[in-house]
Amino acid sequence: MAETRPTVWVSQPLIEAVIAPLRDRVQLRTTDAVTVWSPEQIAAQLASADGAIITLNERIGAAELANASRLQVVANVGVGYNNLDVTALSAAGILASNTPDVLTETTADLGFALLMAAARRITESERWLREGHWQQWSFQTMLGADIHGSTLGILGMGRIGQGIARRGAHGFGMKVLYHNRSRLPADAEAAVGAAYVDLDTLLAQSDHLVLVLPYTPASHHLIDAAALAKMKPTATLVNIARGGLVDETALADALAHGRLAAAGLDVYEGEPAVRPELLALRNVVLTPHIGSASLATRTAMVQRAVDNLLAALGLAGGPAHMPSAINADAALAARAALGKKNGKR
Ligand code: GLV
Repeated sequence: MAETRPTVWVSQPLIEAVIAPLRDRVQLRTTDAVTVWSPEQIAAQLASADGAIITLNERIGAAELANASRLQVVANVGVGYNNLDVTALSAAGILASNTPDVLTETTADLGFALLMAAARRITESERWLREGHWQQWSFQTMLGADIHGSTLGILGMGRIGQGIARRGAHGFGMKVLYHNRSRLPADAEAAVGAAYVDLDTLLAQSDHLVLVLPYTPASHHLIDAAALAKMKPTATLVNIARGGLVDETALADALAHGRLAAAGLDVYEGEPAVRPELLALRNVVLTPHIGSASLATRTAMVQRAVDNLLAALGLAGGPAHMPSAINADAALAARAALGKKNGKR
């Protein structure tokens, strides 16, 4: 009997307990090993797939979609989707989705962990201790900056920014300032305990600044040498969003020359490569893009991607039932205009 189940490419090993049940409903193409896919390999995979579940490693633009005539949906496992050219996907009538909500608190936790580790010099202290430098307790060892009672700045006030604000205001008694493209309604500001300020005020007044805004051409290197110069030399900078928000050369220079006290970075412009200038510094805490990396949250993210995919493929209610579609209106309009139906043009 001819195969009628749609073909779905899963680009990386994810959470098998969530992926395995899919086998009853779709023809799965999976990989057992973490794989670096070239643009040509991605294009080849997409050319013979009806759906794809992908991660931030896979960039999908017009070139990768050139022969993807059957493709109906790209389900990104992650909240940020700067790896997707949404305009190109929409123009081809391909639905795209991400995984917001389920990772909010876990990622806010990591933001706070990096903030505390950087400000209180945790990883620097540990390295110093392991290297055998601790000969005698000293009053002056590893003096850092306080978290409690300080001013927390948040740049980008979406769900994760609000999670960090709540932790700062309600957990640590911090004064919380934020800047965002749009200001929150007054009741939302009150709920998270944060006050809106312009960007220059945020830079100048924050004792600790956390970046949680989307990475777009407009936010590229938003934190450059000029922005860093506006910050307090005693301040801490944390980036849990995307590496390209920060000019890392300027950041390393500021950290090396005492113009910024410390930084905590989970994301890098050229990741997985990390600049040697950053690796050489002791006053920066470096983690390998693990913002959402708890087992429970990663499981929920994969489940969300699967739910998006099944809905988009018409196996669970149709595109209107995708829990977190990014481009439903535009993709469905283009699909109608292209006469593309059920995966066929
Ligand atoms: C991870 O960075 C994500 O966007 O989910």
